[in-house]
Amino acid sequence: MSGNYKKIYEKSINNPEEFWKDISNDIFWFKKPTQILKKNNHPFYKWFTDGVTNTCYNALDLHIDQGRGDKIALIYDSPITGNKKKFSFNELKEKVSKFSGALKNQGINKGDRVIIYMPMIPEAVIAMLACGRIGAVHSVVFGGFASNELSSRIDDSKAKLLVTASCGFEPGRTVEYKPLVDKALKLSSHKIKKVIFYQRQGNEVKLDAPRDIDWNEALVNAQDTDCVEMNSNDYAYILYTSGTTGIPKGIVRDIGGHIVALKWTMKNIYNIDLDDVWWSASDIGWIVGHSYIVYAPLFKGCTTVLFEGKPVGTPDAGAFWKIISDYKVKSLFTAPTAFRAIKKEDPDGKFFSKYDLSSFESLFLAGERADPDTIKWAEKLLKVPVIDHWWQTETSWAISSNCTGIEMQETKYGSACRAVPGYDVKVLKSDSSVAKPNEMGDIVVKLPLPPGTFPTLWNADERYKKTYMSNYEGYYQTYDAGHIDDDGYIWIMSRTDDIINVAGHRLSTGAIEEVLSEHQSVAECAVLGIADKLKGQLPIGLVVLKAGVTKDNDTISKECIQMVRDKIGPVAAFKVAIVIKRLPKTRSGKILRGTIRKIADKEEFKMPATIDDPVILDEIKEDLKNHNILK
Ligand code: COA
Ligand code: AMP
Repeated sequence: MSGNYKKIYEKSINNPEEFWKDISNDIFWFKKPTQILKKNNHPFYKWFTDGVTNTCYNALDLHIDQGRGDKIALIYDSPITGNKKKFSFNELKEKVSKFSGALKNQGINKGDRVIIYMPMIPEAVIAMLACGRIGAVHSVVFGGFASNELSSRIDDSKAKLLVTASCGFEPGRTVEYKPLVDKALKLSSHKIKKVIFYQRQGNEVKLDAPRDIDWNEALVNAQDTDCVEMNSNDYAYILYTSGTTGIPKGIVRDIGGHIVALKWTMKNIYNIDLDDVWWSASDIGWIVGHSYIVYAPLFKGCTTVLFEGKPVGTPDAGAFWKIISDYKVKSLFTAPTAFRAIKKEDPDGKFFSKYDLSSFESLFLAGERADPDTIKWAEKLLKVPVIDHWWQTETSWAISSNCTGIEMQETKYGSACRAVPGYDVKVLKSDSSVAKPNEMGDIVVKLPLPPGTFPTLWNADERYKKTYMSNYEGYYQTYDAGHIDDDGYIWIMSRTDDIINVAGHRLSTGAIEEVLSEHQSVAECAVLGIADKLKGQLPIGLVVLKAGVTKDNDTISKECIQMVRDKIGPVAAFKVAIVIKRLPKTRSGKILRGTIRKIADKEEFKMPATIDDPVILDEIKEDLKNHNILK
């Protein structure tokens, strides 16, 4: 190391206000902040409190003002439909400014919430930016969620308007949004009166006027609309993420800190400059999509790729290489599962050899633990640095990473590298003492968190305080466990709550259990995430039936699977529900989920001293064998 990282990191920790004040000069402010950090209401810290700015201005108008209006802002490529399109900053601004007018015509104003439930099409990005332009708060809901999830987000956000499309395309399946939206609106107690539908060519649906409005019709009387002045601590968006129960948590993002931090990350973490093409192969419904398909690259002013496809099957395992080669992508950010999928289909890289990847300089992975095998396979194939970095919806940008724009650091396979400037990461033991190097514990971040992280939860200050800021006084609890080694490298080993990561998608086993418990034959159940070679983890359900149930087990199992698909969505990838006689518990009645998971994953486990009946574990082993979970 040359010492550059160390110098910058230490400045960010020792003098965060000065550090972020300097960086904040790089964004556009209608009024520059004079107060950098307000810290009189612990744990609710506020950055740039008296600053006035606008998200959309920083994403589009600023680059036009600086003479780069003709530069390509967004490249859309959809191998599923064959559509491709490029938008310059000027073109994107024109579309966003008109759609902002359309939103205004529907009565949307500063602070109003707008739900966006859309596939990966440019109109989704236009809708997000249009909200920012007029100060509305968007809440994007991932297209793989079912009506129930959509409805709980409508109720919690009390949105005024929903923007959707006639359909999305998954390989081999068309996702019809209209019936999903209709059902969600019926289920919600908060009533949304207007829905804007973007009709996809050849897949138009019949709309229910006056509630439903065609996107193009909504634009007919729309005026070009300027960016409104927003206070730095107003919210840009709410993004719901899995909590430990079925009630999702509304992570909010304040405007000023979001722009300052994300713009800084593009150079410092990802080494991306103005003329580079950047690609994040995620979905706008997830935090990676929010931050790195839409906001950070546009704040930076580089080109971002919006890809409506999959790593395999659209049409083959060369899809990623084709995009990189066609658009001269410099760096790609995706989840390890995408690379595991490519490795499975094309282990020898036959597709890879067909393309010219001379523009490509680095691959970033996050969303789940990147297994060393996959990293090494990708390194060998791509011959560029493959960087595992760690972050969460709560933070919106990486907590630990190899900061390639500051100083390239050595790779340690299995570690997500060192803390990114701004994050004072520690490992604490249950008595709140700091763990020694290499000692396992809860990974926490000392408060205040840097700009761009979540200042609270939507309408739930107490939940924010209780869930994240109370277990270790003065620290944010990440709910990840692991250790920090002698060189300051962070090793993320597991979650400490019931969150699992399925193909990089964050899911709560508690929420799936809530659905299974609603089955009329189910007395009790346990859901656990077991190791899966492709998706990292997969949920399986174990259900115990009520006495006197006569329905056969197979039917009950199928019904349980369908219920999860209907209530949470296909994204849960819930395909296994096993009817068992009894669940192993402690004498105090706590289900031994961890022990069952270890059995399923063939990990060593100690017989819990408090188990009420050890024989049940043998029964479970047999059940898992009979269902091919344990081979
Ligand atoms: N809208 C509707 N349905 C969706 C969807 C969307 N946006 N995204 C996924 N689904 C559905 C899929 O069609 C599938 O349904 P099925 O049960 O009918 O087949 C289900 O949800 C599971 O999807 P997925 O997790 O994508 O698994 P898969 O087996 O179809 O594909 C991978 C496996 C590895 C190719 C895929 O998970 C992938 O590309 N992962 C990339 C990781 C990623 O983007 N992570 C985001 C965070 S960085
Ligand atoms: P999400 O909020 O969906 O981004 O999920 C965040 C969670 O994903 C983290 O708390 C981790 O458990 C996991 N995660 C994200 N990145 C990594 C990584 N690089 N290594 C290990 N786990 C990760």
